[in-house]
Amino acid sequence: MILYPMKDLLVKAYKNNYAVPAFNVCNLENIQSVLKVANEKRSPVIIQAHFLEVYYAGAKTLVDMVRDVGADMDLEVAVHLDHGESIENVMRSIQGGFTSVMYDGSPLPLEENIANTRKVVEFAHAAGVTVEGEIGTIGQTTEMGEKIENAYLADAGSAERLANETGIDCLAVAIGNAHGFYRESPQLDFNRLEEITEKVSIPLVLHGGTGIPGDQIQQAVKMGIAKINFSTALRSAFINGIKSHLAEKPDDLGLMDIMATGSRAMEGALANSIELCMSGNRL
Ligand code: 13P
Repeated sequence: MILYPMKDLLVKAYKNNYAVPAFNVCNLENIQSVLKVANEKRSPVIIQAHFLEVYYAGAKTLVDMVRDVGADMDLEVAVHLDHGESIENVMRSIQGGFTSVMYDGSPLPLEENIANTRKVVEFAHAAGVTVEGEIGTIGQTTEMGEKIENAYLADAGSAERLANETGIDCLAVAIGNAHGFYRESPQLDFNRLEEITEKVSIPLVLHGGTGIPGDQIQQAVKMGIAKINFSTALRSAFINGIKSHLAEKPDDLGLMDIMATGSRAMEGALANSIELCMSGNRL
């Protein structure tokens, strides 16, 4: 199985009105589940690891597992660093064989975000690796009260500058989305998204996919969102699958069987996300 630069997958999705789902993983079981469901649904997928997940599993180990598990599958897969917060995170992932990196300079003043992102683009592009930038700060749903204040949302002028002055391939935008389970149903700011799409012509990325209603996801995709991130829904399904199994069989010591109950539950969440992204049968 060839690993693709993420850009190749996004450009195709952007032109054809679907989004590529990006799934956070941290172990072998997660990778097996993502590739199994991608293969069944014939969906392109992005396997991504937050920088803490990269520290946990190792960049090269993650890439090697993706290659080995998918060796006999004919799929379009990119391996991406999610929320790289330093140049060191980005270098570590590229050295491990990631085909895409996110540099998240969003907490920094705009000028600094631009300068650092530009540096990342220079060396990532030299290695054929895609770069995702971020504008506006996509926080946690636990901070939702603060984060939906305008100061945290993406501003179209800043989005235009970050895109034009760095050469990034795609841009994550904060438009009322957040990571984690939403306490109340979120309402994405489509006026803001429209202002951004008028100024920025690269594919856009929506973080915080867990819990965004299907109609809003579809609207966002129509407007230029070409990658949607999912993590909490997957972890929650995996953990709940294991919890239910152990509630029934508290003394089970069959570690492989226990993990398999988590994987099966996670596979339901993966299939659901692929449906929301409208990425099935695109290979
Ligand atoms: P959720 O955990 O809300 O699905 O968000 C995932 C994400 O955006 C990872 O960057």
